[in-house]
Amino acid sequence: MTNIRPIKAIIEPQYVIEGAGVLLRRSFGPSKENPLDPFLLFDHFAFNDPVEGPIRGFPTHPHRGIETVTYILEGNIRHRDSLGNVGHIGPGEVQWMTSGGGILHEEMPNRGPSGRIDGFQLWVNLPAKLKWSRPNYQEVTAQDIPTAEQNGVTARIVAGQAFGVTGPVKDIAAEPIYMDVTLKPGSAFQLPVPQGHTAFLYLFEGETVIEDALIPAVNMVIFQDGDSIEVKSTSESHARFVLAAGAPFQEPIAPYGPFVMNTMQEIQEALSDLRAGRFVYDENDPRFTR
Ligand code: CO
Repeated sequence: MTNIRPIKAIIEPQYVIEGAGVLLRRSFGPSKENPLDPFLLFDHFAFNDPVEGPIRGFPTHPHRGIETVTYILEGNIRHRDSLGNVGHIGPGEVQWMTSGGGILHEEMPNRGPSGRIDGFQLWVNLPAKLKWSRPNYQEVTAQDIPTAEQNGVTARIVAGQAFGVTGPVKDIAAEPIYMDVTLKPGSAFQLPVPQGHTAFLYLFEGETVIEDALIPAVNMVIFQDGDSIEVKSTSESHARFVLAAGAPFQEPIAPYGPFVMNTMQEIQEALSDLRAGRFVYDENDPRFTR
């Protein structure tokens, strides 16, 4: 028996300024109440005005206790970190970064040939037992993200499974689903999502029908509990969205800027570690787990 998830909320993303002055569309950010556990933040960076001038990006900043998932549609982001990693996240690519116990990095967006930059960053929480772990990256190039197709539905699968195709990002504590789904006009998409997991979609092109509600881009839809989601396109328009789901950790959280820990004491510790120059993961420091 299928229990299709009804809509819990529709969120219109709000413009916010982050980093060194970057205009973003934020659907939700970290809060103590943690309503979308295990998800903490979802930002859409879309710089569509080629005469807007230089984009200042996100100069060196720390992260502890979370994972950041960057998925690029157009343009790229140059990434550099305290482990010595340097690279570009380009169109159609994903970087699933597990900050673990501590990382310092820089994320600088660059326009594509069209003059545009378009992409998303999702923050996923880590459970207490992994907040002091070794940082890790899963970086997947565009051709290594598999595409599944069925009845007018095309899904690029980063994590999770659709139509028998499994995404390349593995071993993430939140057991995530993350995919970029396009529906041709007049199509329907149904996907099993485990009962109890948090699920949302971010509609960024076209329009969609969920239950009887017609929802235009750009909007986020949060689903209630159930064992599957069902999304349709209208006969006039395609629909394109990011779909994400994950298992809640049900732990208290203390979010503060780029850190999400379990207690305020751990936030104080992160701030004093930064001042003392001992923020970054160090396998010889017994506070960190191997
Ligand atoms: Co960052």
